[in-house]
Amino acid sequence: MAERGGPEPIKGKFEGKDIVSVGQFERSDVEMVMAEADEMRCMVEEQGRSDLLDDLVVANLFYEPSTRTFLSFEAAAKRLGAATISTQGVEFSSISKGETLEDTVRTVQQYADTIVLRHEEEGAARIAAEFSERPVINGGDGVGEHPTQALLDIYTIEDTFGPFAALKVAMVGDLKHGRTVHSLARLLALDSPHTKLYYVSPPELTMPDDVIESVGPNLQEEVGDLHDVIDEVDVVYMTRIQKERFDSAEEYERLRGAFILDPEMMKRAKENTIIMHPLPRVDEISPAVDVDKRSRYFEEVQNGMYVRMALLAMVHGRSIRQP
Ligand code: NCD
Repeated sequence: MAERGGPEPIKGKFEGKDIVSVGQFERSDVEMVMAEADEMRCMVEEQGRSDLLDDLVVANLFYEPSTRTFLSFEAAAKRLGAATISTQGVEFSSISKGETLEDTVRTVQQYADTIVLRHEEEGAARIAAEFSERPVINGGDGVGEHPTQALLDIYTIEDTFGPFAALKVAMVGDLKHGRTVHSLARLLALDSPHTKLYYVSPPELTMPDDVIESVGPNLQEEVGDLHDVIDEVDVVYMTRIQKERFDSAEEYERLRGAFILDPEMMKRAKENTIIMHPLPRVDEISPAVDVDKRSRYFEEVQNGMYVRMALLAMVHGRSIRQP
């Protein structure tokens, strides 16, 4: 079977493309996703579902734990009429028998029209895309990227501040292992050249150099403590310390709880600052913050479904506006 090569830049055309990395996107491509996601939101609010993809099958291959990303791709496909075939966890798949990702992908594409992949290895989605003739969507590849989460984060930010806002954004927690912040930092830099990113992490968990390089030196700054910036940022993007990425339990225990957002800290945040988190949360946001009207993390979950509906339609050259 023919191989299709690496992920192509989108350049205004989503049909047949893989969604592997935010590096494929230009600002105008992000705008197209935001516009389609808006339409999906209206459609769901008005009629709940549509038949736009009712001739298609979406395969959700989730080899790493997931609640939101898995269920939101399931819900997104089903709200557009597509059928889903899904597998969760390596233990129930032929990977546990030693099958390569290449062979799994070659097999699954015989059944499905799109493959959504979550995998513990960085670069897995890129490899899957090379071997699949069907569009592959990266649902998170190890410590690599999480492009659909970053798109839903942008959707949530623009929903509050509008497009192209010059925002100050603090990314807090495990920036080394957090794939959501790797993708979001890059997309935010694309979103507005006036965005300023503050990276707040323990010294052991700083943002990787390749992300810093691709964002550009003027737009970002490492700060040691959330206290230093909480009163000036527009967005606080909290992340969990990623226990499963640590070699030693002691190291994780030492670093967890490094930054905790609680009502006391929220008193210092601006009135229109929003609090985001890709979830799952462990203890980095105190539950008492949930009732604060500035919290947006559960709203993000809903936005994720609209953005994933948009992407599933777009990679098949379809739009809810022009069925
Ligand atoms: C994130 C992930 O899996 O990268 N969760 C998600 O997809 N919403 C964040 C995390 O696991 O901490």
